Amino acid sequence: MKITIVGTGYVGLVTGACLAEIGNDVFCLDVDQKKIDVLNNGGIPIHEPGLKEIIDRSRAAGRLQFSTDVEASVAHGDIQFIAVGTPPSEDGSADLNYVLAAARDIGRHMNGFKIIVDKSTVPVGTAQRVRDTIAAELTRRGAKQGFSVVSNPEFLKEGAAVEDFMRPDRIVIGVEADDSGNRARESMKRLYAPFNRNHDRTLYMDVRSAEFTKYAANAMLATRISFMNELANLADSVGADIEAVRRGIGSDPRIGYHFLYAGAGYGGSCFPKDVRALIQTGSENGHTLRILDAVEAVNDAQKQVLIKKITERFGEDLTDRTFAVWGLAFKPNTDDMREAPSRTLIRGLLERGARVKAYDPVSMDAARAAFAEDLADAPDAQARLSFVRTEGEALPNADALLIVTEWKAFKSPDFNALREALKTPVVFDGRNLYEPGAMLENGFEYYAIGRALPPEAARRPQLRVAQG
Ligand SMILES: NC(=O)c1ccc[n+]([C@@H]2O[C@H](COP(=O)([O-])OP(=O)(O)OC[C@H]3O[C@@H](n4cnc5c(N)ncnc54)[C@H](O)[C@@H]3O)[C@@H](O)[C@H]2O)c1
Repeated sequence: MKITIVGTGYVGLVTGACLAEIGNDVFCLDVDQKKIDVLNNGGIPIHEPGLKEIIDRSRAAGRLQFSTDVEASVAHGDIQFIAVGTPPSEDGSADLNYVLAAARDIGRHMNGFKIIVDKSTVPVGTAQRVRDTIAAELTRRGAKQGFSVVSNPEFLKEGAAVEDFMRPDRIVIGVEADDSGNRARESMKRLYAPFNRNHDRTLYMDVRSAEFTKYAANAMLATRISFMNELANLADSVGADIEAVRRGIGSDPRIGYHFLYAGAGYGGSCFPKDVRALIQTGSENGHTLRILDAVEAVNDAQKQVLIKKITERFGEDLTDRTFAVWGLAFKPNTDDMREAPSRTLIRGLLERGARVKAYDPVSMDAARAAFAEDLADAPDAQARLSFVRTEGEALPNADALLIVTEWKAFKSPDFNALREALKTPVVFDGRNLYEPGAMLENGFEYYAIGRALPPEAARRPQLRVAQG
């Protein structure tokens, strides 16, 4: 099938590459000439496991092309996916300017029946606005081409995006209840048939419900995280271990184990903005979404939890202190720095006078760019932040190690070497990677999120008790 993807970012590039991999003829459009040049020169603008290989294969087979040529992109695909960004506006609502610009381009150039698929995360009612925008362009041109707008939200996870796209839990498709909607439904069914061989994973519904489903899913996941973070802080105070609690409740099939990890707060390009956008949709429609207000407030506070523990230990003034930071990306297996908790933490340390030596296995370039932006107004702070090439290089002279992203490589370090390398053997673990008791036995002062010490360890007089 002939497919166009408008917007070649995390979602657009993965969607385009995966649809080309299974044999479709895919045209990826972007307005960012630099991104398109990188791709046309055989590079890849983002880190995503397995993506480069399928891009290379499909390009070599002539099934995948990248371009900034809008007219050619509209002419190419019978199905036009819109996968552009929907960043938050000032009031928290999703900024639809990119989506509507893409719709306008399609309306301006379309030359036959087109199926327009909203893959970007967009508020309920956006498909209608896309439809109106295209219709207005057609009227302006005096053209009469037919079209249908479909909602097909994306559920991939960065870091496992190719796997998620190739083996989706579900494919949500919202279509209009008319003849062109039926035609669109048949095309979408054909397009996704290769992903449904084992059993049909497609959920057809009306367009508005499909748009809503994406926000509901992310809001639920964010809720689980904030719920656990709030309980973790209480666990710290009452002397319970949130990891034991997590296992205790996760084993109930009505609850399940996923997304119950306490940590340094959620970040990334989706949860923060989607929670905010849903709150805003609520308020525009006269509903205060009180649970989501709390989810957001808890998360904002959680991003400060490590700073709070650090200042309790070292005092408010961190001048002359040096901290090693492991993990900068908002989660492992991606280089995405959007709303990463490391940004709040590092800024907080620098503001208090500290030096920071930061390391991440893949996001160093993205991190440099993110901190250059964050600290543009604070050259003095910027001078105290350095990026190092290995996790080991971050440690010498550091008063403590801070873990912010749970990369696999951090899960089982050589603890003896770690203890020896640090100036003082103090670890603040924002991802609960290690066993508190074992860390104490190993001679570390260990601060995690919501993890009280096992009583037998806490009772030993020779060991310093560093709760939570
Ligand atoms: N990143 C994720 O994990 C994820 C997962 C599910 C859904 N989503 C949603 O998918 C959408 C895209 O997210 P992303 O992370 O891929 O964004 P992104 O910022 O990585 O990519 C968006 C791309 O669209 C391009 N663009 C903007 N306007 C354009 C136009 N008029 N024509 C052509 N290209 C244009 C930009 O240059 C950019 O390359 C968002 O709505 C997001 O919420 C993202």
